[in-house]
This record gives sequence, structure tokens and C-alpha cells, in this order.
Amino acid sequence: MRQITQATKVVKEEVIGSDFFDDPHKYYRRWRKNGPVFRVVRPSGLPHWMVIGYDEARTLLADPRMRKDVTELYEIVRSVSPGGSGGASEDLSSHMLNSDPPEHSRLRKLVSREFTGRRIAALRPRIEEITKNLLDEMEGKDEVDVIEDLAGPLPVMVICELLGVPFDDRDDFQKWSKILLDADPNVDTAAISQKMSDFLEGLLEAKRADPGDDLLSSLCVNGDESDRLNTKELVAMAFLLLVAGHETALHLIGNGVYMMLKDREALESLRANPDRIPAATEEVLRQFGPVGWATMRFTDEDVKIGGVTIPAGQLVAISLDAANHDPKVTPETPRLHQLEDNPKHLAFGHGIHFCLGAPLGRLEANVAFTQLLQRFGDMRLADPDFFPEWRLGFMRGFTSLPVRLK
Ligand code: HEM
Repeated sequence: MRQITQATKVVKEEVIGSDFFDDPHKYYRRWRKNGPVFRVVRPSGLPHWMVIGYDEARTLLADPRMRKDVTELYEIVRSVSPGGSGGASEDLSSHMLNSDPPEHSRLRKLVSREFTGRRIAALRPRIEEITKNLLDEMEGKDEVDVIEDLAGPLPVMVICELLGVPFDDRDDFQKWSKILLDADPNVDTAAISQKMSDFLEGLLEAKRADPGDDLLSSLCVNGDESDRLNTKELVAMAFLLLVAGHETALHLIGNGVYMMLKDREALESLRANPDRIPAATEEVLRQFGPVGWATMRFTDEDVKIGGVTIPAGQLVAISLDAANHDPKVTPETPRLHQLEDNPKHLAFGHGIHFCLGAPLGRLEANVAFTQLLQRFGDMRLADPDFFPEWRLGFMRGFTSLPVRLK
């Protein structure tokens, strides 16, 4: 462990082992002893600051000195780690989540009206219908994979319909999106980014020529020359909405079903009291939210936080997962059926980048949990000693969840 001396304090530099994703809380418990803000080096060699306290995370997520501009971000990443970040290309990543105001405000405004609580609530009947159809297909089987049969296809179908992306292409774009999010150092992510870009560019070209009644078509043709997105911006926007719209909700549903299967009493109680499911969903988000770490930020100037000063131009990762487990905020862990109020959490982020799709993600999870418990109340883990195969990278969830329905 290296140490960096500051005027205020000695900051320890922790090394993240390759076993981190199996049990990040083992690390968080140990790290808490060092304070809420310190330095880490990832298994890939990328060094950066890490924030694990709830108050510090919430403060920094809303701090305009924590910048996101993609060009500057990638430059800093390359300067500290010549191999880069290993994730999606800079072009694909040039979207609102990697931009600062006023650019961010311009991009978010173009799509925000499609994701308001009211707009999303109107999708409920269709989401219920898709869920029912998926459960119909599960009926009759003794064993299913909740990820493959429900948690995966439901959000993909919904976001495909909203954006106007052909569902038949899902095998390709899901595979590419998983590789780009996991940033697997053993895979040529540049080639995968190119495939994703080519796919989206072709799709957008077809929409420009023959617009449909969907969000990507309206982004292609609506507005005047001055505020219409150019091709690079459109591809990045389509990438963000498509990927953020399905990867996250997939793991929210998967993680929630897993938690219910591990606590039979909670499962039975939620089945009998479905009005308690929305609060349970919030607790799933808190305890086991699908986005472990917020996307990378960098400091625009020296930022004092948690007893240390992060110098200007440094990378900062904020662990939403660690913040949501901060014992100062949630000293005890409630069970899913015993929540009186919605728990406080940062699973959707905070500040200007607060998740645009939060109403949609919540609705999909609530519908999936409600219908699954009603239809298959006797379901059990196929293997009581099931040990998940965890996603790598900042997504928190697993790739399969085998369940016996009867
Ligand atoms: C279901 C669970 C979901 C979770 C836990 C989640 C989590 C998050 C988080 C933590 C952020 C902020 C990241 C940061 O500040 O670095 C975010 C941003 C975003 N999410 Fe979600 N998300 C979910 C679902 C969705 C869905 C269904 C969509 C639909 C398209 C979506 C679209 C977005 C977009 C566009 C942003 C960027 C907002 C901005 O930069 O202004 N998310 N999400």
C-alpha cells in the first residue's frame, strides 16, 4: 500500500483485488476504517479517488466542480493509465451522462419529457402485458432462469418499443453492451464499440428516411436545424438510452427476486400484501442496487471533502453501493416486507445526472415482482447453495438465476 502525504492528512492508496466483485462489502467494511474518501488502484491498474460515505457521495454528486466532459475525462484516464479505461469508445460515450452544463442541459431537455412520471405511468398496461406474456411462457416449465426468461427480456422489450429498436437485434446489442459495460480487459472493446456504432448509425439512417412513431425517429426529424442532434450526438444518445434502459432494470429485477428467494417470510408477506412491493423495490435499490459505482468524474479544482483535499484534475469514483450501506445512515438492515417508509438511497444517483429512467425502472421492477409473486408463489432457488456468477465492472448483478417454479 502506497501513501500520499497531504498538508491535511496521509491518504492511503488501497489496491482492489480481482475478487472485489464477488464481495465488495468485504472491502467497504475494511475501507471505512480509513475514512470516507481515499485512493484506490483497480485490478486494471487505473488509479483514482474513491468515495464511500453517504454524505460525501451525495455532496459530490451535486457538486459542479465534479466534472464529466468526455474529452477531458478520457485525456485524464489516458494520462494515468496508458491502456485507457477499456470501456466504450469516446464517440459512443459522448452523451449527456458524460457532459457538463450547458451541453448536458441541452441534451437532457431533448428527451426528458418522454420520461416524466406521467408519461411512464401511461406505459403500465403495456409493461403488464409484456410481463404476463413472459410468465405465460414460463408456465409449464419446472425450472426457469429468471434472468434469461424475465429480467432480461422485459426491460429490453420495453426500451426497444420506446426507442424503436428492432427486438430481433437484441442478441447482438445485448452482447456488445455487456462487454462494453464490463470493460473486460481481455476483449477488444474498440472493435465492439465500432460494431455498436455501425448498428446504431444504420438504424438512425433508416429512421431518417422512414420515421416511425418512436423516440429515436422523433430525435432524428423533430426540432429545427439549430437544436437537432448531429449524427455523432444521435448515436451516443441512442447508445446511452438503449444500454441504460435495459442493463440496469435487468439487474434490479434479478437482484430483487434473489433477495426475496433468500427470505421466504418476506416473499410470502409481499405476495399477500402487494401494496408493499414499491417500498420493497426501494430497499432492493438500497441494499442491492444494480449500479455499484456512479460513472467516473474528475475534479475541476481542488475539492476538500471527508477530511482530505482531492487535487484538481483527478479521477473520482463514487460508490453508490458503499454509500447506501453507510452505517451512519442505515445502522440496521430492514427486511423487504417490514419497511414503513421508503429508505434513503443514492441508487439512482443525485444532482443533475439523477437517473432519467428512474420512473421506468421502478415501474418495470414493481410489475415484475407483483406478477411473479402472484403466479409462482412457490418458487425456490433451484440450488439452495446457489453462488452467483457476478458481473464484472460497475454493474452489480449476476448473469443467471435458476429457479424451480413448483
Ligand atoms: C432500473 C434501475 C436503474 C438504475 C439503478 C439506474 C441508475 C442510474 C444512475 C446511478 C445514474 C447516474 C449515474 C452517474 O451520476 O454517474 C443514471 C443515469 C441515467 N439513467 Fe438510469 N438507472 C436505472 C434505469 C434506467 C432506465 C430504465 C433508463 C431508461 C432509458 C435510464 C436512463 C438513464 C439516463 C439517460 C441517465 C443519464 C442522466 C443524465 O446524465 O442526466 N436509467 N441511472
